[in-house]
Amino acid sequence: MSIALHWAASHTTVATDPKTTARSAAELQADVGETITADGIGAARAMELFDQVLLPATRSAEDPMNLAYIPAAPTRAAVAFDTVVSAANVFGGIWENGAGAIFAENQVLRWLADLLGWPEESAGVFVAGGTHGNLSALATAREHALQRRGRRPEGGWALACASTAHSSISSAARLLDMDVVSVPVDDRGHLTGEALEEVLAADDRICAVVASAGTTNAGIVDDLASVVEAAHRHGAWVHVDGAYGGAALAAPSVRERFTGIEQADSFIVDPHKWLFAPYDCCALLYRDPRPAAAAHSQHAAYLDSIDRGESNPSDLAAHLSRRTRGLPLWYSLATHGTASYTAAVERCLASSRTVARAIEETEHLELLAEPELSVVVFRRPGWAPAAYRRWSQRLAKEGTLLCVPTAFRGEIALRLAFVNPGTDPEAVIKVLRTTMRAADGS
Ligand SMILES: Cc1ncc(COP(=O)(O)O)c(C=O)c1O
Repeated sequence: MSIALHWAASHTTVATDPKTTARSAAELQADVGETITADGIGAARAMELFDQVLLPATRSAEDPMNLAYIPAAPTRAAVAFDTVVSAANVFGGIWENGAGAIFAENQVLRWLADLLGWPEESAGVFVAGGTHGNLSALATAREHALQRRGRRPEGGWALACASTAHSSISSAARLLDMDVVSVPVDDRGHLTGEALEEVLAADDRICAVVASAGTTNAGIVDDLASVVEAAHRHGAWVHVDGAYGGAALAAPSVRERFTGIEQADSFIVDPHKWLFAPYDCCALLYRDPRPAAAAHSQHAAYLDSIDRGESNPSDLAAHLSRRTRGLPLWYSLATHGTASYTAAVERCLASSRTVARAIEETEHLELLAEPELSVVVFRRPGWAPAAYRRWSQRLAKEGTLLCVPTAFRGEIALRLAFVNPGTDPEAVIKVLRTTMRAADGS
């Protein structure tokens, strides 16, 4: 067996350590030296460098006490199958080349479409990440509007979203030369149809509305039913960004929060966030895939013999060649069953509620909002920003807990994102209660 495969096969347990382990490029250069040489350094040396120098300078996103940003918790089945996907090396852009692998990916996409309550004809594709998924969906929305209206509006296209939408939305708007029209949120942070109505009535350049199904910062699910109604009344496309929160569609305890998503036009969820798949993986779905194919199909002399009878994944996003990156999720879902996924997502939701209750009951802490999904936002009254930073850095250095400061409603705050069913809420509570007493965060 090759050295690399042997390493992958023996790497079946999670490397857990939330410590901050990044090193400077100069330090790494000193330890690693030149690896790209005319004669090669050999597999044994390259693997040794990866195992002993390069990998230790990365941080595991999988540690149960890593609750910063959006961490990750892929199943061992999904991680193992990622290696299989590499070994199989299937071209997943076109049905003719990748039929069997694409068929399996499509079964997963169908599971997601059923959770969304979408019709039989809905379809999708796995792309690299939420940023890529959002960009592709919004390119489809813009092209769809152009086809319907026949020309670009005076002043160019625009999209509407709340300021709580993920940064990848404004990035996509920049790339697509669209203006972003910001819609005020209600007092609990939701984008609503009522506020949207005013904006849409005032600006007919808006061809797409982006709603969040779980904001990254606070896990807030916009009021999807009223948003869809207002947007469709004005002929605007509705894209729902569920990169983080979309996984909770599988959880009956919160499914009601997503009411209205049944009528959205496009949707993304990142299985590498909360559906227990390894990086990098985003499921992009369209209720009706035809506008996506119109926006993204590539045509060239050498591509014209492609059989376009079956749906080709390359037609549904901004790409042509693609790895069948949905397969690790397929294998894990097929292995464990959807009920296990529901249980695992519910466990994360339950952990966030337990920690939120404990924060409320702790004198030196203040819960800032009731978690709608699995992000808990709180503060330590009396702490200046430097105290938050000191505390966060100290715990990161010790490897106790990874929790970084954020801003919430204009104030510095802390957030904990629960996407790992292995996180023990009692361990988190213990850390918060014992390490946050000192007035200066030390
Ligand atoms: C709500 C939301 N949308 C989009 C993204 C971007 O996803 P990715 O990092 O996979 O590009 C993120 C990432 O955290 C997110 O939380």
